[in-house]
Amino acid sequence: MSTLADTPLATDFPCLRREGIVYMDSAATSQTPQPVIAAMADYYEHHRGTVHRSVYALAAEATELFEGARDRIAAFVNWPADCTIFTKNATEALNLVAYSWGRANVGPRDRVVVTQLEHHSNFVPWHMLCRQTGAQFEMVEVDDECMLDLEQLDELLATGNVKLVAVGHVSNAAGTINPVAEIVRRAHAAGAVVVVDGSQAVPQTPVDLGELDADFYAWTGHKLYGPTGVGVLHGRKELLDAMPPFIGGGHMIASVSVDEIRWGQLPAKFEAGTSNIAEAIGLGAAVDFVAGIGMQSIRAHERDLCAYALDRLAELPDVTLMGPLDADRRGALVAFTLDIAHPHDIAEILGSSGVCVRAGHHCAQPLMQRFGVAATTRASFAVHNTRADVDALIDGLNDVRRIFG
Ligand SMILES: Cc1ncc(COP(=O)(O)O)c(C=O)c1O
Repeated sequence: MSTLADTPLATDFPCLRREGIVYMDSAATSQTPQPVIAAMADYYEHHRGTVHRSVYALAAEATELFEGARDRIAAFVNWPADCTIFTKNATEALNLVAYSWGRANVGPRDRVVVTQLEHHSNFVPWHMLCRQTGAQFEMVEVDDECMLDLEQLDELLATGNVKLVAVGHVSNAAGTINPVAEIVRRAHAAGAVVVVDGSQAVPQTPVDLGELDADFYAWTGHKLYGPTGVGVLHGRKELLDAMPPFIGGGHMIASVSVDEIRWGQLPAKFEAGTSNIAEAIGLGAAVDFVAGIGMQSIRAHERDLCAYALDRLAELPDVTLMGPLDADRRGALVAFTLDIAHPHDIAEILGSSGVCVRAGHHCAQPLMQRFGVAATTRASFAVHNTRADVDALIDGLNDVRRIFG
């Protein structure tokens, strides 16, 4: 049984108080709980000022809230606060590494390795980097269950010129939980830097970056019950210190003259301009929200829903599942095709009865190409979901089968 089953968590989310909504699209964006909305409103209503620049009370309070959020976010994943950089989203965090570290460290004789599971955010920036630098772009493929071929990774690493490995922690399209600690170990042994896209992992599983030992780890606030407009990049200090800034402007400098510009300390060096202050504060509240529930409990709850969904989907003869067949190797989602109907038709029919799921390529076209499909239907689970929601999904799919069957 679900460990969160007796907790009426759906009532924490104002948007879910709407009649007839069964929200199963948290892998795209999660709903926002009341404490997150309240933390942002509190900043606007009581502490509205800019950060790091002024000494009057409002500005000092705003700075305290903003940096307090950073401290709690960093502690949540066990990484130093000064190496925890606020960005706009995961996409910007990954591009920061590709532009700043990548352009300074990758050359024509190097290889950059991504995987077939990557979201375009962790694929396109590396493709662009290779196009621009002349480096060789390589992709580790997956097997029929969307598990990475680590032997292929080893073969690439054995060439001796892999500069960087970019890998997602949990796939948004197949659900695969990748063995990132093992990948980091192998890549480091071959002298490569590792960038992990944790956008789906941080909301779903306990993440200990100290233990994981990746060089860069990026994630996005709006999938962790936080607001849009804020993401996070955690980086290894030696690398961040050696990297040039991503964008230039206010706040990121120590001094500016006509002859010379000296960069500011971390994390300011990578946070040019006025930050998304309310959003960072909101993300701090989101971290408090999930920490209050407990990441182990969240994982157990969502694993249970996933296992239940896998069992119930197996009742339908015309469903083809994408990704690992058991819930232990899978994050909180099921993605599938139905022989008789297009994913967009499925999502539309489900949506007409309030069941919110996503249809499309999920920004993972290389993975869709691997399986010869243009799109899948994806239902993803979060703390507010229950087994009854999975039942509503199956009822809706049976409606689809009746309509198209
Ligand atoms: C695995 C993964 N990486 C990266 C992203 C990009 O997140 P954002 O659009 O917030 O930058 C997403 C969003 O769908 C994702 O699922």
